[in-house]
Amino acid sequence: MSLRVAVVGSGPAGIYTAEALVKQSADPVDVDVLERLPTPYGLVRYGVAPDHTSIKSIANYLRKVLELPRVRFLGGVTLGSEVSVEDLLACYDAVVYCTGAMVDRKMGIPGEDLLSSVAATDFVNWYCGHPDVSPEAFELDSPEVAVIGVGNVAVDVVRVLAKTAEDLRATDVPDDVLARLADSQVKAIHMIGRRGPEHAKFTLKELRELGEVANADVCVRPDEAVVLGGDFPRQIKGNIDVLRSWSERSPVGRPRRLDVRFWLRPVEILGTTRVEGLRLERTRLSEDGRVVGTGEFETLPVGMVLRSVGYQSVPLPGVPFSTETMTVPNLAGRVRDREYVAGWLKRGPTGVIGTNKSDAAETVRTLLADAPSGAVASIDELLAARGVRPVTYEDWQAIEAAEADLARTLGRGERVKLVGLEAMLAACGRIAT
Ligand SMILES: Cc1cc2nc3c(=O)[nH]c(=O)nc-3n(C[C@H](O)[C@H](O)[C@H](O)COP(=O)(O)OP(=O)(O)OC[C@H]3O[C@@H](n4cnc5c(N)ncnc54)[C@H](O)[C@@H]3O)c2cc1C
Ligand SMILES: NC(=O)c1ccc[n+]([C@@H]2O[C@H](COP(=O)([O-])OP(=O)(O)OC[C@H]3O[C@@H](n4cnc5c(N)ncnc54)[C@H](OP(=O)(O)O)[C@@H]3O)[C@@H](O)[C@H]2O)c1
Repeated sequence: MSLRVAVVGSGPAGIYTAEALVKQSADPVDVDVLERLPTPYGLVRYGVAPDHTSIKSIANYLRKVLELPRVRFLGGVTLGSEVSVEDLLACYDAVVYCTGAMVDRKMGIPGEDLLSSVAATDFVNWYCGHPDVSPEAFELDSPEVAVIGVGNVAVDVVRVLAKTAEDLRATDVPDDVLARLADSQVKAIHMIGRRGPEHAKFTLKELRELGEVANADVCVRPDEAVVLGGDFPRQIKGNIDVLRSWSERSPVGRPRRLDVRFWLRPVEILGTTRVEGLRLERTRLSEDGRVVGTGEFETLPVGMVLRSVGYQSVPLPGVPFSTETMTVPNLAGRVRDREYVAGWLKRGPTGVIGTNKSDAAETVRTLLADAPSGAVASIDELLAARGVRPVTYEDWQAIEAAEADLARTLGRGERVKLVGLEAMLAACGRIAT
C-alpha cells in the first residue's frame, strides 16, 4: 500500500525525514516537503556561519534527497497561512512537523528592549541574508560590543564580528551586508559566560578557531580561566586548556580584541534609547549548583548587546505545544493520530545537523509502524483553488544559478545570497523584475 506524507519544514530534520521515509518504507512513499521560504535547507542556509563552507556543503547531500523521484519541494507554503493542519490531514496520510526553532530566548533583564540590544537570531539572519531581516538592519557603529552566552552560536557571532570583511569576501554573505561589515567600527568584543570555562557549551574545534582569527587578539583573564577539579570529559578539558593558554598570552596589537569572560551575568542593559552600557554581576555556583550573584558588579561601556542565549520553537496553529519545554509533546515522534514531529521542534534547540538524522529516523520508524492512512484530497488542487503556486525545486535551482551568477559578476566566491523574497522570486521568473 502506498503512503502520502507531508513534511513541514525543509531544514535538516525535514529532509532527513523525507529520506528516511523513502529508504525505510517497504511500500512506495510520496513525500511533499512544504517550506515557508522559496529556499530549502533551513539553518544550513540561514544559520550555519558563512565561513563554515565545509559544513554548508551538507546542502549537497540534502539536495540529493529533494531530487529523489518521489520527493517534491513545495516552497512558499506556510503551515498556518497557505495551509492548515486540517488541509494537510485531508491531503496526506500523515504529517511530520519539522519547523525548527525560529525565535530567540530573552534574558529577562531591564533594558533588553533598547535599540542595539538585539537577538543573535536576528544578527545571524542578517549576515546569512535571511529574507526576514533587511541588510540595513544592523550598523556596526559601536566600538565595543557584548555577546552574551558561550555556546557555538555565540562563537559564530563573535567570529563574524572579529574577522575583516575581506576574510568573508569569498563567502555567500550578501553584498550589502559585506559593505556594512567593511564599515564596522567594532574594536572590542566581550563574550560573556555566566558560569565557568568548564560549563561553556561551545565545542573545542569552534573555540580553537576563534584563536586563529588573524584580525583579533583573544584575551582571557587568568583568574577567570582557573578551574577547580580535574576530572573532565575530553572536550571540556580541551576547552579549559585552550582558554588557559589564551590567559597566558599578551595582546599583540591586532585591530580587534576579543575578551572571553566567565562568571559574569548580565543584570541590566543601560541607556535611554539605545544601549550605552552593560551592567554585570560576578557569579558563583550555589551548593545546589545554581548560578547566584556575589553582589560584586562591573559595567562594560558597550554600545551594542547581542544575546546568544539559545533559540526557541514557536507553536504551530492547531498543533499541540508545551509552553514548559517549548516543544511539541510526542512519544518517539508521534504527536497524535497521523501527526508526527522531528528535529528541534521535537527535542529543543540543541544538537548539530547530524543529530537530526537519527532523530528523524526514530520518528519515521514510529510513523511506518503506525501505517497511517486518511488522504482523501489533492494538495495540488487545494493550492490551485487558493491561487497558491508553490516554488518548485526547479525554481530553487534557478535561484541558486542566479546566486552563482551574482558571485561571478561581483568577483566573489561560489555564490552570493540574493536578499529578499522579491529578488528570489524574480530570479526564478515568478515575478517580473
Ligand atoms: C546559528 C546556528 C548555526 C548553526 N551552525 C551549525 C553548524 O555549523 N554545524 C552543525 O552541525 N549544526 C549547526 N547548527 C545546528 C543545526 O542548524 C540544527 O541542528 C538544525 O538546523 C535543526 O534542524 P531543523 O530542521 O529542526 O530546523 P531548521 O533548520 O530551523 O529548519 C526548519 C525549517 O522549517 C521552516 N518553517 C518554519 N515554520 C514553518 C511553517 N509554519 N511552515 C512551513 N515551513 C516552516 C523554516 O523556514 C526552516 O526552513 C546551527 C544552529 C544555529 C542556530
Ligand atoms: N559549529 C557548530 O557545530 C554549531 C554552530 C552553531 C550552533 N550549533 C549548535 O546549535 C545548538 C544551539 O546553540 P546555541 O549557542 O544557540 O545554544 P547553547 O549551546 O544552548 O548555548 C547557550 C548559551 O547561552 C547561555 N545562557 C542561556 N541563558 C542565559 C542567560 N539568561 N544569561 C546568560 N547566559 C545565558 C548558556 O549558559 P548556561 O550553560 O549557563 O545555560 C550557554 O552558554 C547547540 O547544540 C550548538 O552546538 C553548532
